[in-house]
Amino acid sequence: MARITASVYTSHVPAIGAALDLGKTTEPYWQPLFKGYEFSKQWMKDNQPDVVFLVYNDHATAFSLDFIPTFAIGTAAEYQPADEGWGPRPVPKVVGHPDLASHIAQSVIQQDFDLTIVNKMDVDHGLTVPLSLMCGQQDPVKGAWPCPVIPFAVNVVQYPVPSGQRCYNLGKAIRKAVESYDEDLNVHIWGTGGMSHQLQGPRAGLINKDFDNRFLDLLEKDPAAAAAIPHINYVREAGSEGIELVMWLIARGAMADAAGGPAPKVAHRFYHVPASNTAVGHLILENN
Ligand code: DHB
Ligand code: FE
Repeated sequence: MARITASVYTSHVPAIGAALDLGKTTEPYWQPLFKGYEFSKQWMKDNQPDVVFLVYNDHATAFSLDFIPTFAIGTAAEYQPADEGWGPRPVPKVVGHPDLASHIAQSVIQQDFDLTIVNKMDVDHGLTVPLSLMCGQQDPVKGAWPCPVIPFAVNVVQYPVPSGQRCYNLGKAIRKAVESYDEDLNVHIWGTGGMSHQLQGPRAGLINKDFDNRFLDLLEKDPAAAAAIPHINYVREAGSEGIELVMWLIARGAMADAAGGPAPKVAHRFYHVPASNTAVGHLILENN
């Protein structure tokens, strides 16, 4: 049967993608940030998953304001990179896992979460930047990402957005879904976005190190308390775009301890300010 063996949490700042693509990683501004991911790239090689279930948010690239799914699962065979801002990144297409994705959709919908099934979509920096940070740069044509990816898009852009508690509960349902899949697959679940940032209005540029580090502490040791943080606290303390952090709770809810199992092992933790307008947070948890 398939198993979730680890979860990864990371920011997705588009400027990180641009720094990678334009060869700026050794510049003084970027060097400390990329140093924090050296461990992670080696860890990915040493702990190669068969599939990554990648929770991220679309930034009006695949979904316009014409239709706004709260939770959307990608069931396609492949996805093309696309983006706002800097445009599509020069990275390989993302290969999906339609069979596992359809199985998860069936199981999670039967567990009473209404997912939107997406058979065709492009993926933006929300998905490709975490892949680059964890897997390193790949040739856009001759290269490939190391394994199939199931994109799982969460609406954190247009109100109303889902609560942290709902995201955490959804993670538990995803874990059950993965564990009811017959094939022996090693699955990693990633929660991406965050940490504190606000891109608009009078508080644009807001970063809250205290909130971010408390959130990382809770995510490690007391995820149920992290899940109980009300929506308004993210907005007040982590800024309007800090709400992206609820996506981390989906990945955290899929870990063994959320279902009464043993606590995870912390393989890596990293925090850095600033990257563009955000605080960058990163955590790797392994199921024991
Ligand atoms: C920035 C951060 C984001 O999460 C995003 O989606 C766009 C821009 C930024 O820091 O510039
Ligand atoms: Fe974002």
